[in-house]
Amino acid sequence: MKLVHDPSEIAALAAGWRGQGLKIALVPTMGWFHAGHLALMRQARQKADRVVVSLFVNPIQFGPGEDLAAYPRDLQRDRELAAGEEVDVLYAPSATDMYPPGFQTTIRVVELGRGLCGASRPGHFDGVCTVVMKLLHQTQPHLAVFGEKDFQQLAVIRRMVRDLDLAVDIVGHPIVREASGLAMSSRNSYLTEGEKEQALCLHRAILFAQEKAKGAAQSLSAAVLCCEIEDNIRQVPGCVVEYVEIVDADSLERCETVGGNSRLIMAVKVHERVRLIDNTRLCEV
Ligand code: PAF
Repeated sequence: MKLVHDPSEIAALAAGWRGQGLKIALVPTMGWFHAGHLALMRQARQKADRVVVSLFVNPIQFGPGEDLAAYPRDLQRDRELAAGEEVDVLYAPSATDMYPPGFQTTIRVVELGRGLCGASRPGHFDGVCTVVMKLLHQTQPHLAVFGEKDFQQLAVIRRMVRDLDLAVDIVGHPIVREASGLAMSSRNSYLTEGEKEQALCLHRAILFAQEKAKGAAQSLSAAVLCCEIEDNIRQVPGCVVEYVEIVDADSLERCETVGGNSRLIMAVKVHERVRLIDNTRLCEV
């Protein structure tokens, strides 16, 4: 596996592969790989001839007071893990190469990026879209793989790709969970074992909502279900709900009732330090 830092080097590699008719997959990441990232890499490997994994802790998607400085980083560890998944290139640009002095362009997906995480993290999705757009230009992939844990991010990126006529297929990968049910996240490394137990309120909410949705076909009020979930989470010491919503999976607009395209989507703060998100499809089987 090749480690590339220079944007012009990855662009030249990608152009060469394109010239040979090879299919390129990109897996954009911020590093500190866990089993969720490795699953995205495996999916990319199955679908393409060349796999590029980008590793860049993107400063412009972090707000003031967020965990940019604390975000876990270990290039050597990530390099070994990516090599184990037969990744062709680990692309780790520097912040000054990505945002040289004078950089002033922003990509904004106006509506989809506004609510949910966008409401509590103003500017976050602008930062995500801007960096993803740059990574797509630099690596010229035929497809890019993203995890469904960041469900709003996936919807925003799909919209950006459609709106800007980008010739790249956006592939969503189902959430990978720890054995306990906790969704894999680099931010889980901030949690003690006891806090991880408390963070399981998110997974319990998912199981609760899935059970309620079974057989309820359009008769289950989304607002009532969200209130029940919020009440349950409130019982867990150290856990504070940022939002619990049931939305249409495409428009991300609030649903009145739970239906076939509904998605339960949540953000919870654990001990004020660690913001966790999770989501699930809710279908009335
Ligand atoms: O999901 C992430 O890790 C990041 O938001 C992404 C897509 C790599 C952009 O920095």
